[in-house]
Amino acid sequence: MKANDGNNEIILKVENVHKIYAQGTSAEVHALQGISLEVRKGEMVAIMGPSGCGKTTLLNIIGGLDRYTSGKVWLAGREISTYASEELARFRAKNIGFIFQLFNLFPFLTALENVMVPLLLFTDHRTARRAAESVLRELGMGGFFGHLPGELSGGQQQRVAVARALVTNPKIILGDEPTGDLDSTTAADIIYLFRRINRERGQTFVLVTHNRWIAEQCDRILHIDDGVIVKEEIPKPITLV
Ligand SMILES: Nc1ncnc2c1ncn2[C@@H]1O[C@H](COP(=O)(O)OP(=O)(O)O)[C@@H](O)[C@H]1O
Ligand SMILES: [Mg+2]
Repeated sequence: MKANDGNNEIILKVENVHKIYAQGTSAEVHALQGISLEVRKGEMVAIMGPSGCGKTTLLNIIGGLDRYTSGKVWLAGREISTYASEELARFRAKNIGFIFQLFNLFPFLTALENVMVPLLLFTDHRTARRAAESVLRELGMGGFFGHLPGELSGGQQQRVAVARALVTNPKIILGDEPTGDLDSTTAADIIYLFRRINRERGQTFVLVTHNRWIAEQCDRILHIDDGVIVKEEIPKPITLV
């Protein structure tokens, strides 16, 4: 059974989005060329495509980190260009979880403190601490609260980054090659972890990956080339133990 069975709410809709960098200069780059897609609540979607095809640009636009040149993006029912920039920052902090290839943890904060950071924008220290502890335990990191990122393995650091993305209970988690810097065994651990979070919490994921096997663990694969979707694929259902 798919995690999105019985729930057809569209959480993300991208419609005919163009992104032109350095518009009007000789360095103009048309990174997104009228891309459209939809993601349902509880879906786990993979995005694949050659280097430079616009994957990161797309994720940054979905996540409200970058503005688009034209088109429309709805996240959780609202068109994101209608947000004032401060409002967008608050919406983003609460509703969008980012996971990056190189983890991007704060090196001088402990695992627990890293996970508390996004919550401290909304809540008091004590509540943030309790919530961060609970998510770290859920991800098997209960014994590492006081460790600095440099004292953790790559897979453990990515678990902390996943906990940080998850702790605000976001509407969507965006991963930009989240397993790209991990060996294949650890990458498999992380994608199984995403799958578990997806099933247990109904968490929606959009994951950019270069790895065919990782993409096949998702519900749907969108292939991008030259700033548009060129193919959509439903991988064979997988069985998890
Ligand atoms: N900030 C930027 N300024 C100018 N060009 C950019 C910028 N970011 C990305 N690009 C260009 O846009 C295109 C798409 O880039 P990107 O979205 O990073 O691709 P991908 O993540 O698929 O490798 C590339 O040609 C890239 O060089
Ligand atoms: Mg990229």
